[in-house]
Amino acid sequence: MSETHFGYQTVDETQKATRVRGVFDSVAGKYDLMNDLMSMGLHRAWKAYTVAVANLQEGQSVLDIAAGTGDLARAFARRVGARGTVVHTDINEAMLRRGRDRMLDEGLVLPTLICDAEKLPFAANRFDLVSVAFGLRNMTHKDVALAEMNRVLKPGGRLLVLEFSKVAEPLGKAYDWYSFKVLPRIGSLVAGDADSYRYLAESIRMHPGQAELKAMMKNAGFGHVDVHNLSAGVVALHVGIKC
Ligand SMILES: C[S@@+](CC[C@H](N)C(=O)[O-])C[C@H]1O[C@@H](n2cnc3c(N)ncnc32)[C@H](O)[C@@H]1O
Repeated sequence: MSETHFGYQTVDETQKATRVRGVFDSVAGKYDLMNDLMSMGLHRAWKAYTVAVANLQEGQSVLDIAAGTGDLARAFARRVGARGTVVHTDINEAMLRRGRDRMLDEGLVLPTLICDAEKLPFAANRFDLVSVAFGLRNMTHKDVALAEMNRVLKPGGRLLVLEFSKVAEPLGKAYDWYSFKVLPRIGSLVAGDADSYRYLAESIRMHPGQAELKAMMKNAGFGHVDVHNLSAGVVALHVGIKC
């Protein structure tokens, strides 16, 4: 049996998806509030930047993977208009339900689908753009998921991966203090769940940094990959072109 990591723990590969599901089942109800509190609102700017880089045109087709409560999917839907398509997907039903409810509140109806990024139920060469925000880190076989994202993109289509990354060295100590001391405390006070936010901090440390993720995307078939560091590398946006 193969092993992988769940935060700093080593677990059997077959256990990781179940453990990740436990985290998002637990946080779904408070997910959006916690995002605002933990990032001091910065996640909105990171997502707005991603939407600007996506530069979607009316009528285009988009797949948002690990879309959760749907921040990107909603913004993309406004840009592609009624002639376009945005498919809102995630492996976790509780997260998708929150996202669908928020969309309905805004008068938006998008196709919403439970699916695993490692086995996408779509034909090859189907989408103009695929996005995954803060989701890749949680996947068991990131190489398989990236290859799937490549498969469903049209030739010339783009993959946008927005994810926590390696912060610039001078900020390292302060960032560690905030991640391991402050985040679990906010999680405990607001969501009644310190463990899920400890997992968040650990999973960020275990995730490949900017250069490593770029190499993984190239191995998965993206001919060109650009890296945009945001907030001194706390987050990076990787843009891969299928060519
Ligand atoms: C931190 S949330 C991100 C939600 C949203 N994209 C955002 O930026 O706010 C991570 C999401 O990844 C999803 N996820 C984890 N593993 C997945 C997989 N193998 N396939 C699809 N989604 C997955 C989780 O269920 C969760 O909703």
